[in-house]
Amino acid sequence: MIRIARVSMALLATSLAAPLASSGQELEPVAGRSPTDGQRVVLVTGSTGGLGREVARTLAARGDHVVVHGRSADRGMELVAEIEAGGRGSARLYLADFGSFDAVRALARAIRRDYDRLDVLVNNAGIWLQGPRQLSDDGYELHFQVNYLSSFLLTRELLPLLRRSAPSRIVHVSSAAQRPIDFDDVMLDDDYTDGRAYAQSKLAQIMFTFDLAEELAGSGVSTNAVHPASMMDTDMVLERGARVRSSVHDGVDAVMHLIDGDDLGTGGYFNQTTPTRANQQAYDERARERLRALAERLTAGR
Ligand SMILES: NC(=O)c1ccc[n+]([C@@H]2O[C@H](COP(=O)([O-])OP(=O)(O)OC[C@H]3O[C@@H](n4cnc5c(N)ncnc54)[C@H](OP(=O)(O)O)[C@@H]3O)[C@@H](O)[C@H]2O)c1
Repeated sequence: MIRIARVSMALLATSLAAPLASSGQELEPVAGRSPTDGQRVVLVTGSTGGLGREVARTLAARGDHVVVHGRSADRGMELVAEIEAGGRGSARLYLADFGSFDAVRALARAIRRDYDRLDVLVNNAGIWLQGPRQLSDDGYELHFQVNYLSSFLLTRELLPLLRRSAPSRIVHVSSAAQRPIDFDDVMLDDDYTDGRAYAQSKLAQIMFTFDLAEELAGSGVSTNAVHPASMMDTDMVLERGARVRSSVHDGVDAVMHLIDGDDLGTGGYFNQTTPTRANQQAYDERARERLRALAERLTAGR
């Protein structure tokens, strides 16, 4: 069976053999191994670099099995090899472009096929692009899809596994950069700036967190959102030439707090480790309902 359905030029340049999830195809892991019995299983999206990679390293150092995800085969394989060589945790790498719902679905199918439990899902993969507005493979504004819609879809696809694994957690890596969603121009056809696109997608993640917490009440699956730290020294910030204001390790502490912390409850938004109020729109039930209906419609399989 041919496993390689679509290989981006960027990926082709770095690795000729790596399978990237695509429509209807089964996605195979690129590297790594299965967890051992009793090992906690944590999926960290966007863990081939930046904050996600440091969270993955921290989890593995504690003995966890990390499902590493991203698009870069080389960086992902490097991390898996490092984790395996570390001798404590274990890891396995899957490649899927969050600019494609087919790829997200293929990733979810692969996780359901390869794992009988998922203790923590960390929705961390994210972009803050420079330059003109870009569209996803599905035709939607790219920040909205990669940062919000794809996490929404992945989470929904993995909910049965998370429920079976309860007590389990879903952590949404959001941001203090939040901007209300204009439901008349969600894809920012009329008024695009990268800051606006990023900030509305980050608020959408928080609105999803609040909804999900209500839906999962009493299930043993908790969910919270976090602003990890401001302007960390990751590619997202460095490639813009923006002024670095914190270390990625500050962000790791904040994310690990939501993964491991006691008595956090569910349905909260944290500024690093402090429970905080999000943008007012997140508390508007009608706005959340509109957003949920939109996400369900846009991510519905064809
Ligand atoms: N940096 C900050 O100061 C800051 C502040 C607040 C919140 N955050 C949030 O923290 C999270 C991590 O950010 P970061 O600073 O670590 O960014 P980063 O260094 O750019 O890393 C982003 C990660 O997401 C993956 N990714 C990007 N586009 C993707 C796509 N289309 N499909 C699949 N994976 C994709 C990247 O992997 P590949 O390149 O391999 O695809 C990489 O692993 C984001 O959600 C961000 O919004 C960051």
